[in-house]
Amino acid sequence: MNNAPIGVFDSGLGGLTAVRELKNVLPNENIIYFGDTGRVPYGTRSNDTIKKYAQQDTKFLLKNNVKMIIAACGTVSSVAVNLKKDLPVPYTGVVSPTCFAAAKATKNKKIGVIGTSATINSHSYRDLIHSFDSEVEVIEQDCPLFVPLVESGFIDKDDPVTRLVIERYLEKIMKAEADTVILGCTHYPIIAKAISSVIGDKVTLIDSGRETAIYAAKILKENNLLNDSSETGTCEYYVSDTPDGFESVAGVFLGENVSHSVTQIDIEKY
Ligand code: DGL
Repeated sequence: MNNAPIGVFDSGLGGLTAVRELKNVLPNENIIYFGDTGRVPYGTRSNDTIKKYAQQDTKFLLKNNVKMIIAACGTVSSVAVNLKKDLPVPYTGVVSPTCFAAAKATKNKKIGVIGTSATINSHSYRDLIHSFDSEVEVIEQDCPLFVPLVESGFIDKDDPVTRLVIERYLEKIMKAEADTVILGCTHYPIIAKAISSVIGDKVTLIDSGRETAIYAAKILKENNLLNDSSETGTCEYYVSDTPDGFESVAGVFLGENVSHSVTQIDIEKY
C-alpha cells in the first residue's frame, strides 16, 4: 500500500479527461496534475522537442514524490517512447491500453485512429494494433483543428463549425466503414458526442483516457501501490501559464466543478 499521489501530465488540459476517469476508477487516490499550458500544443512540434518537454514534465512530477506517472497525452505516448526507461516509478502512456481495447471491440477488423499530426506520423497506434493482429485494417487521420476547437469551447454536438470539421476529417474513416474509432488524443473525448452524431452511434469510440485509467488501476494493484485510505482523494493542479480561467475550462474536461486552487510553475527549471 502506498498513499503517495499519482502523477498525471499532458500538454494542456486534455489529460483532465483521463483524470476524470481515474477519479471514477480509483476514488481514494490522490492526484497531482500538470498541464503544460504555456507550451501547448505538442502535436505540431518536432519529436526532439516533444521528448524534451516530456522529460521536464516527468521530472516535475517526480519532485512531488509521485508513485506512478501517467502520460495522459497521445502525442507524448506516441513520440517519447523511451521515457519509461529512466523512470524510478511505474509508467503508462495512453497508446497500449487504448489499442488493447480497440482490438477487442472491432468486429469487422477495421479500426480508425484519429490524433494529432505527431501521433499519426509516428504510426504508434497502427503498429501496436498490427502487432496483435496483422489483418486489422487501420485507417489513420490527423485532426489538427480538433485541439484548438476544443480549447476554444466549440464542443456542442450541434455546432455547425465543429460538425463540418469532423465531417471533413472523418470522411476517409467513414468510407472505409470502420466499426471502431480510437480517440487517440485526450482532448477528443470532449467532442465525442459530436463525433458520434456525424459518424453514427453504431461506431464504437475508444476513449484513451478511460482505457488508461483502467490500466493504471491494474498496474497499481499488481505493484501493491494502491492507496488504502477510505477518504476521497485530493487533486492538485499545476500549469505552466497563467491559471486565469483554469477553473471554468477544467470543469468542462473533468465534468464537475473545480473548486481547487491551481498553481503556476516554471517548467523550464526542470
Ligand atoms: N492532449 C494531447 C494529446 O493527447 C494533444 C494536444 C497537443 O497537441 O498538445 O495528444
